[in-house]
Amino acid sequence: MGLSTVDTKAHSTSVDWGAVRRDFPILEEEVHGKPLIYFDNAATSQKPVHVLRAVDQYYSTSNANVHRGIHELSNRATSIYENARARVAKFLGASAREEIVFTRGSTESINLVAYSWGWQNLGKGDRICLTEMEHHSNIVPWQILSQRLGFEIVYVPVTGDEGLLDMEALDRILASGVRLLSFTHISNTLGTINPVREICRKAAAAGTLTLVDGAQSGGHVPVDVIDIGCDFYVMSGHKACAPTGIGVLYGKKQHLDSMPPFQGGGEMITRVTLEKAEFNVPPHRFEAGTPNIGGAAGLAAALDYLDQIGRANIAAHDLELTLYALEQFSDLPGIRIFGPRETRGSVLSFCFDDIHSHDLVTFADAKGLALRSGHHCNQPLMERLGVSSTARASFYFYNNRGEVDAAFAILKKVCSFLRQ
Ligand SMILES: Cc1ncc(COP(=O)(O)O)c(C=O)c1O
Repeated sequence: MGLSTVDTKAHSTSVDWGAVRRDFPILEEEVHGKPLIYFDNAATSQKPVHVLRAVDQYYSTSNANVHRGIHELSNRATSIYENARARVAKFLGASAREEIVFTRGSTESINLVAYSWGWQNLGKGDRICLTEMEHHSNIVPWQILSQRLGFEIVYVPVTGDEGLLDMEALDRILASGVRLLSFTHISNTLGTINPVREICRKAAAAGTLTLVDGAQSGGHVPVDVIDIGCDFYVMSGHKACAPTGIGVLYGKKQHLDSMPPFQGGGEMITRVTLEKAEFNVPPHRFEAGTPNIGGAAGLAAALDYLDQIGRANIAAHDLELTLYALEQFSDLPGIRIFGPRETRGSVLSFCFDDIHSHDLVTFADAKGLALRSGHHCNQPLMERLGVSSTARASFYFYNNRGEVDAAFAILKKVCSFLRQ
């Protein structure tokens, strides 16, 4: 690995970013005969050799089913899986590994809270609060449930193109009585970094539980769930250098203990008769069926890797590169850029009045530049911004200024071509 230090608080100068980049074989790929510039990291990140090897090693030496076996391979698989849980707990600053439930990703983690905690606790006359910048994953599960249970959903508005949460509106909503506030840490379209600690402190003071959607933060900024003060935190492994299909729900022990199962099946019971079942303790109560053991092995390796680079270093690198791109892209004639101008996550969304973002991204792809276009699963936010889609460049620590310069040149050419 390209690190001259393993100090997680180290200053960014101590990281050899060029060597870090070489840990990612896919970045050597060509697409359409051009060098790949991968700026679609908010959708999914690339994987370093450390993660590829960990998954390969698991399947090559230890593959078996967990928990139920007495034989050696099953014991190996179980300890890999349970050690991965402990690794996630440490990564997120949870008090105990029992507070970590493995899921498929942020979407499933939010659905778990909705269908377990929500089903048990919400009904007519109750209100929950979301924000206008939520990903569909943090809107649709609640809408489905509210149609069945009759509770109300209220939304914290987003202010202008800068895309900050209206904190005065949040105060008013909290004062009016809300059971749960479920909100994103970092917006996947705007790049806004919401003040999670302040929001969770306000919510706790108002007697409101908090769920933080960390899909865009878990792999990008230091996260400590106790310091944040949230009740639930969710993240997706695949956006943090781990394989797809493995994700995390952190829940405070007292909440998980009181929550009913989400799905029924093997692993989540202690005893089953023809009439009824007795359920296992958390986290197993929420993990029905054979879990993604290989994914958990890859996730543990990814978290080791991120911590070796240092999450403060990653955050500093992300911010520096994103502000550089923001400055560069601002020179593109007619561009409208969304999101905060200073402190922000590594996501840059933009559009042009006279060029459709799908056209822009299709032509950019032909030149090797991977961007994303569309509503980014943020249709209500798009409506709020008055656009139907944006183009989005999203960066990670293996991207560099040279790629931003090349992307700028490509976008300039594509814009001129599409305007002819
Ligand atoms: C803010 C946010 N929340 C939730 C999700 C859903 O994550 P996943 O598809 O990994 O479940 C995403 C994915 O882009 C996201 O950006």
